Amino acid sequence: MNILITYYSRTNITEKVANKLKKELDCDLEEIIDKKNRSGPISYLISGFQAARSVPADIKEIEKKPENYDLVIIGTPVWAGTMSTPILAYLKENKEKFNNIAFFCTCGGNEGNTFENMEKLVSRKPLKTLSLNKKDLEASYETKIHEFAENIKNNI
Ligand SMILES: Cc1cc2nc3c(=O)[nH]c(=O)nc-3n(C[C@H](O)[C@H](O)[C@H](O)COP(=O)(O)O)c2cc1C
Repeated sequence: MNILITYYSRTNITEKVANKLKKELDCDLEEIIDKKNRSGPISYLISGFQAARSVPADIKEIEKKPENYDLVIIGTPVWAGTMSTPILAYLKENKEKFNNIAFFCTCGGNEGNTFENMEKLVSRKPLKTLSLNKKDLEASYETKIHEFAENIKNNI
């Protein structure tokens, strides 16, 4: 089974989860690179505003073709109760190219409508979802990642 993990991460939290998942699944990894620098408090506000209004980010060209994978696992931080705008851009640009999908997100409190909005955008149900909030991320979350990975392996 051919699996790709695609993620965006502004402050490396989602990236850490993506790397742990990659170890579990021994698969390919692609980071979505935002052309905009989103550091600092002004950028934070703009990012939240754009996420709430579904304004896709300008992202660098991807290297790995989603259609070449049996499953693409998409990871995003939650912004304003939904997916980050770089992942919004990735999904918009590639929505017709996925075979199977699964989602994960990291957030401060809760994922809000992130997974529902991602599902709507690609018109496809994820095989599995995983949401990790600040509390989960401060504890040992290896078990949750392991269970998510095992569930995916058994479902495809
Ligand atoms: C613009 C912006 C909006 C956010 N909105 C939410 C939110 O609505 N709910 C939430 O639980 N966390 C929210 N967060 C917190 C992030 O989802 C959380 O810190 C995440 O783990 C960051 O992941 P990253 O380091 O991979 O970028 C927001 C963060 C940013 C930058």
